[in-house]
Amino acid sequence: MRTYYCGELRKEQIGETVTLYGWVDRRRDHGGVIFIDLRDRNGIVQIVSDPQRTPDSYELANTLRNEYVVEITGRVTQRPEESLNPRIPTGEVEIYADKIKLLNSVRKQLPFQVSTADADSVREDLRLKYRYLDLRRDRMAHNLQLRHQVVKAMRRYLEDVEGFMEVETPVLTRSTPEGARDYILPSRVNPGEWFALPQSPQLFKQLLMVSGFDRYYQIAHCFRDEDLRADRQPEFTQLDMEMSFMSQEEIIELNEKLVGYIFKTVKGIEIQVPFPRLTYAEAMERYGSDKPDTRYGLELVNVSDVLKDSGFKVFREAVANGGIVKILPIPNGNDLISNVRIKPGGDLFKEASEAGAKGLAYIRVRDDGEIDTIGAIKDNLTAEQKQEILRRTDAKPGHLLLFGAGDAATVNKTLDRLRQVTAREFGLIEPEKINLLWVTDFPMFEWNAQENRLEALHHPFTAPNPDDLSDLKTARAQAYDLVFNGFEVGGGSLRIYQPELQQQVFETIGFSPEEAHNKFGFLLEAFEYGTPPHGGIAYGLDRLVMLLAGEESIRDVIAFPKTQQARCLLTDAPSAVDAKQLKELHVASTYKPKS
Ligand code: AMO
Repeated sequence: MRTYYCGELRKEQIGETVTLYGWVDRRRDHGGVIFIDLRDRNGIVQIVSDPQRTPDSYELANTLRNEYVVEITGRVTQRPEESLNPRIPTGEVEIYADKIKLLNSVRKQLPFQVSTADADSVREDLRLKYRYLDLRRDRMAHNLQLRHQVVKAMRRYLEDVEGFMEVETPVLTRSTPEGARDYILPSRVNPGEWFALPQSPQLFKQLLMVSGFDRYYQIAHCFRDEDLRADRQPEFTQLDMEMSFMSQEEIIELNEKLVGYIFKTVKGIEIQVPFPRLTYAEAMERYGSDKPDTRYGLELVNVSDVLKDSGFKVFREAVANGGIVKILPIPNGNDLISNVRIKPGGDLFKEASEAGAKGLAYIRVRDDGEIDTIGAIKDNLTAEQKQEILRRTDAKPGHLLLFGAGDAATVNKTLDRLRQVTAREFGLIEPEKINLLWVTDFPMFEWNAQENRLEALHHPFTAPNPDDLSDLKTARAQAYDLVFNGFEVGGGSLRIYQPELQQQVFETIGFSPEEAHNKFGFLLEAFEYGTPPHGGIAYGLDRLVMLLAGEESIRDVIAFPKTQQARCLLTDAPSAVDAKQLKELHVASTYKPKS
């Protein structure tokens, strides 16, 4: 029987005989003395075998290769002074292997060196194809353990402190209105009909409130067929919560305690509550983003009013057409950002144009306080306008001012992107800093230009602010997002629980009563039978763990993630299926492979 995990051994165990199981991380032969780094999920410890002190194990030790699986029994010994290894927790001890049992060998050439010593050089596609080997490595084993600790803390706090209970909701269900594309599955027994995989448990958790389970949570798998990024997977996990009889303030307060508990138990960090709050309008105005990274400044400055009558057409027309003009002021920007970079063909110009900007106007402040810019701007700004721009941006010699002009959405997107790139390049981000904040008062709806209609910004069950009921179209929602260092890690809202108001919201997003009935009739009906006031939130577990682990992609905190092309390289899914299976499902593919 195992007496310890490898990573647990310390000075305190010196003199004990222990039995360990694990994988050979590395084997070294130092002139007749064999050293084996033995690894399990918990860490690494050094095993020693030589013909004098451990004659019974020496011969076998000599034949061991990387990733062989072994059982080792031996005495925990103090390492000699010269071979102490302060870089690993077990670095003060080594085990003299009295007995080694080979449990299994490696029969094929390893696709990459698993050894923690060779840490980061392996290509991601290889890591994903052989994920079971990748997960043996220190970094991934640590990330999965951290993930487990986070989930454990969530459960402990919600269940034991706040009285929440977990309820599982179905995975084969109807489409939920979270706004992404659904993954759908044909029904064999109901020809021509389809299930959708849940984008979130939203509708079911609201129904559970109707049922009276007034503090529900679930570690829920969610599925969204959307374009993938480093923080988005087609299949991801939420901590999903719903509560009845609580105000927005009470929900926020409970969640701050939950997040505080997670940080304390998992990272030993005491975080300040309450978290700062920004309204959506303020966040967009100051940062151009509804998930601002507030670890650094670089705040945007709106100069629409200064430039609405400017002689420079681009600025004037932007405002005349209902848009805005904003500036990203970059202190010392002149040193690092050359004209080449902000003119067509340059990297920052490219960032801006990818965000939809048509150009990237700029002003440089020179040492004598004079401004330097293209003629069309310099010649067309009055002295007062120049003065006011410099005053509002608090510009000093060396400042570079980058302009966004056009519709508000594009301007904000452009300057948000440039703000982030600049902060990274100028080293303004302190990686250890933890900035958690709530963004509140989102608008209920946003304009969907493609479909020419309003659509719900969160989802259509979000309750409007009671002060804004006179004009729903422009109403603020009672919705709140939790932002952690520039990532949206959670989002929720109070819900509508009156059928009449729900009906009005459906009308506002262009759902006829029939459509609403077809899609959500079951929910609307449930609301007729005594629905408590309720609200909730869902956290993106993968994103939260990614940030806690200091990783840059959620793929690194998910055991078996998909690639950016939504494939599982390990199982090679998705894959073709037999014609017979399709026939049973009453489905025919229209896909014609390119010849
Ligand atoms: P929302 O759509 O904001 O809200 O999702 C909640 C949180 O889930 C995470 N998230 C994702 N993580 C990884 N990959 C994805 N594709 C992905 N999409 C979302 C984000 C996000 O903040 N039903 C509502 C919650 C509610 O109102 O209670 C919902 O799902 O961190």
